[in-house]
Amino acid sequence: MKNVKNYLSENKDRFLNELIELLKIPSVSADSAFSQDVLDTAEMVKARLEEAGCDIVEIHETAGYPIVYGEKIINTDLPTVLVYGHYDVQPADPINLWHSPPFEPVIKKTEKHPEGAIFARGACDDKGQMYMHVKALELMVKTDQLPCNVKFMIEGEEEVGSNNLAIYVAENREKLANDVILISDTGMIANDVPSITTGLRGLSYVEVEVTGPNRDLHSGLYGGAVANPINILTKMIASLHDENNHITIPGFYDKVEELSTEERAEMAKAPFSIEKYQEALDIESVYGEKGYSTNERNSIRPTLDVNGIWGGYTGEGAKTVIASKAFAKISMRLVPNQDWKEITELFKTHFEAIAPKGVKVVVKPHHGGQGYVTPIDTIAYQAASKAYETTFGKKPIPQRSGGSIPIVSLFEKELKSKTILMGFGLDSDAIHSPNEHFGLWNYFKGIETIPYFYEYFTEMTKK
Ligand code: BES
Ligand code: MN
Ligand code: MN
Repeated sequence: MKNVKNYLSENKDRFLNELIELLKIPSVSADSAFSQDVLDTAEMVKARLEEAGCDIVEIHETAGYPIVYGEKIINTDLPTVLVYGHYDVQPADPINLWHSPPFEPVIKKTEKHPEGAIFARGACDDKGQMYMHVKALELMVKTDQLPCNVKFMIEGEEEVGSNNLAIYVAENREKLANDVILISDTGMIANDVPSITTGLRGLSYVEVEVTGPNRDLHSGLYGGAVANPINILTKMIASLHDENNHITIPGFYDKVEELSTEERAEMAKAPFSIEKYQEALDIESVYGEKGYSTNERNSIRPTLDVNGIWGGYTGEGAKTVIASKAFAKISMRLVPNQDWKEITELFKTHFEAIAPKGVKVVVKPHHGGQGYVTPIDTIAYQAASKAYETTFGKKPIPQRSGGSIPIVSLFEKELKSKTILMGFGLDSDAIHSPNEHFGLWNYFKGIETIPYFYEYFTEMTKK
């Protein structure tokens, strides 16, 4: 690759302004109030892919939001890279905790991003990271250096579970055929500690409903004499972990892959400061499963967390009431080999079994997906590693992440291809939180690094 830095510096302002335009559209897939915005974003992605040099760009309808498909096939004898990303974003709430409006991007310096970061919902997850690939394509096409074929598949329902993707992928196997899948929707350790994500956790997401009496009751007249659904729900939830913070659902750990002492020792070599971690979160101490380090707890171990809990009176002042119903949303992060449907069933059976007489329990499964681990002895990993070495001047560290991208295991099953996760965000970029941001340095570093992946992957595949 030649002239990468030149092309970047000549087009820097435009690359940034285009991302700002993309971030201004509130493509919140979870909230139907934004449905037109989600559709408008798909159109914008389509237009940008055409300008960047794709020969074909199509909007493929699904039962939900559409998928933007693009391709540039230069020679069918050459390898094909399939880029996946998502143009939808998480809801912005709680809005009042944002220092600037979530869909009016601003650039501010931060401690981690002294060169500035762009603040907006989706800046890092995933518009900013997805758009790096569009600009990397432009760079390769406009400088006449695209070394292989490229396909894009950018979806609009990742943040709500990609429910319509399984059918789409199964029905479009030929169209999506590729030699490697490339995704930037994860993070790296630090700007001076590049890493490549080699694992993702699976997910099972459920909602539970506990019903006591058939109506809300006066907490004086009935208090003490009937099961209070909120008391019961919190007690049931508390019982899902034991004193060592192990999950108590029978069978939950049966298929969990135990890493060897060597693998764990290798993981422990990644630079990490517990003091800085605690300080950044303003906590006195970390917390979690006995026998595992913080980095193990958030990557190679499964979890169960309440994501939301409600019921009863939460308005101003006080109201003495025993609610008829209590609810919670619960996520379980799973590790490779745990099957999300099986875990969902185990949860349901157990949760129903521990409900005391006097309440009724309903467990509603939401969505889920399998975990993933990518081998590092492949050409694709080696090519990615070499690309980082070229632009960061350092070999990247393989690192398992705790987040989930369910489509990755689906791709492996349906398309038989491996995924390379080249994430350029930082954990501190506040994805899914107020004040999400993406470092400008990271954005441009991503655009700079991606073309080298194409170059090395093509070279290494030909040999
Ligand atoms: N990009 C994230 C996943 C991610 C972030 C993985 C950082 C690794 C590091 C993705 O958009 C996401 O939020 N996924 C959801 C799951 C999905 C089924 C809603 C998640 O992990 O909660
Ligand atoms: Mn994402
Ligand atoms: Mn996300």
